[in-house]
Amino acid sequence: MSDGGLKFSSYSQGVLTSSSLPEDHEPEIISLRPTSLAEYIGQPDTIEAIEIAIKAAQMRKEPLDHVLFHGPPGLGKTTLAHIIANEMGGKLVVTSGPALEKGGDLIGLLTHLEAGDVFFIDEIHRLPKTVEELLYPAMEDFSIDFIFDKGLHARSHRFRLKKFIMIGATTRVGLLSSPLRHRFGIFKNLDFYSIKDLEKIIRRSATILNLSLDSQGAAELSTRSRGTPRIANRLLKRVRDYAQVKCGGVISRKAVIDALALEGVDALGLTDLDRSYLRTIITYYKGGPVGIEAVAATLQEETDTLVDVVEPYLLKIGLIMRTSSGRKASAEAFSHLGIEPVSVS
Ligand SMILES: Nc1ncnc2c1ncn2[C@@H]1O[C@H](COP(=O)(O)OP(=O)(O)OP(=O)(O)O)[C@@H](O)[C@H]1O
Ligand SMILES: [Mg+2]
Repeated sequence: MSDGGLKFSSYSQGVLTSSSLPEDHEPEIISLRPTSLAEYIGQPDTIEAIEIAIKAAQMRKEPLDHVLFHGPPGLGKTTLAHIIANEMGGKLVVTSGPALEKGGDLIGLLTHLEAGDVFFIDEIHRLPKTVEELLYPAMEDFSIDFIFDKGLHARSHRFRLKKFIMIGATTRVGLLSSPLRHRFGIFKNLDFYSIKDLEKIIRRSATILNLSLDSQGAAELSTRSRGTPRIANRLLKRVRDYAQVKCGGVISRKAVIDALALEGVDALGLTDLDRSYLRTIITYYKGGPVGIEAVAATLQEETDTLVDVVEPYLLKIGLIMRTSSGRKASAEAFSHLGIEPVSVS
C-alpha cells in the first residue's frame, strides 16, 4: 500500500529498500506479521501505551482515541493498525492519502464504517487539503458535512457516523497540518529496532518459515537489517535461498555474510544506495555540508527516497549529520568507506 508515493530508480529497487515492495504482500511474508500486542516484539513504550489505552477504552465501552504513528518505512505502522483492529474486535478499512482524491471517496468509506471499526490512512501527509478538511468533523464529532449543489442552491446535509477509530501513518510528520495533528489523541513515534529485538524477530520468522538458523547467523543478520523488521524478514528469505543451495540449509554466520555480499549489503547493513549517497557527499562535496537537492541531483535519485528511506538510518548510526547548511558526513562515514578524512572545517 505504502509504496504508492515513492518512485524508485533502479538503485533503490529490490530487496534492500525499506519501503514496501510487491513481495512484501506475498502470503508467506504476510504470515510473519504479528497479529496481537502480546506477539509484538520491540517498541516497548509504544506497545505499553497502546495496551493501556485499549484496556481503558474497553472498560469505558468507548472507542479508542484516534492514533497517529510516524517513523521510517518498514517499522510496523501498518502492522500496528491491524493489531489494534484485532484487539478492539473491529474490522480494518485501509486506504492512503494519495488514494483519497475527492471528498466523495472519503465519505463513501466513512459512511460504511461500523462502531469500533478502524479506519487506517497510510501516508496521511499526502491527503488532499479538501479531503483533510472533511476529516476534521468526522474525527472530532463523528459527523460529516456534505454540500449538495453550488451557489444559491447549495444545501448542506450532516451525516452522523458510527464511532470509528482513526489511525494515521506517516513517514513525514512535519508535513502534517497542525489541525490534523491535534485531532489525534495518541501520537506515537516508531524508532529503529535494537539489535536484540531484531534478533528476536528474525528467530520468530525463522520458526514460522521452518528454517534452521544458528545463533551466530541470527546475530549477524540482525546487525545488518538497518534496524528495520521489514528488511530483516526480506534478508532472511534471501539468506534462506543461499543456505539451501550452498550450505545444506543451515543459516550460519558464514552463510549470512556470503549471501549478503551478493546482495551488496555490508557489515553495517548499508546498501549500494547508502554507500553511493555517502560517497557523493564525501567525494563530490568534500564531506559537506551540502543541500539534499544537490545530492539527489548528483545521484539522480528522488529527494523523497533519500529523505524517507536512506537518511533516517544513516542519521541514527551517526554516519551523517543534518546541519542548518545541509548534510555532512561524519568521520565514521569516511572510515566506513575507507576514505582518508579531509580536515573538516
Ligand atoms: N514487531 C514486529 N515483530 C515482527 N515482525 C514485525 C514487527 N514489526 C513489523 N514487522 C514486520 O515488518 C514488516 C513491515 O511492517 P509494516 O508493513 O507494518 O511497516 P510500516 O511501518 O507500515 O511500513 P511503511 O511505512 O512502508 O508502510 C511486516 O511485514 C511485519 O512482518
Ligand atoms: Mg505500511
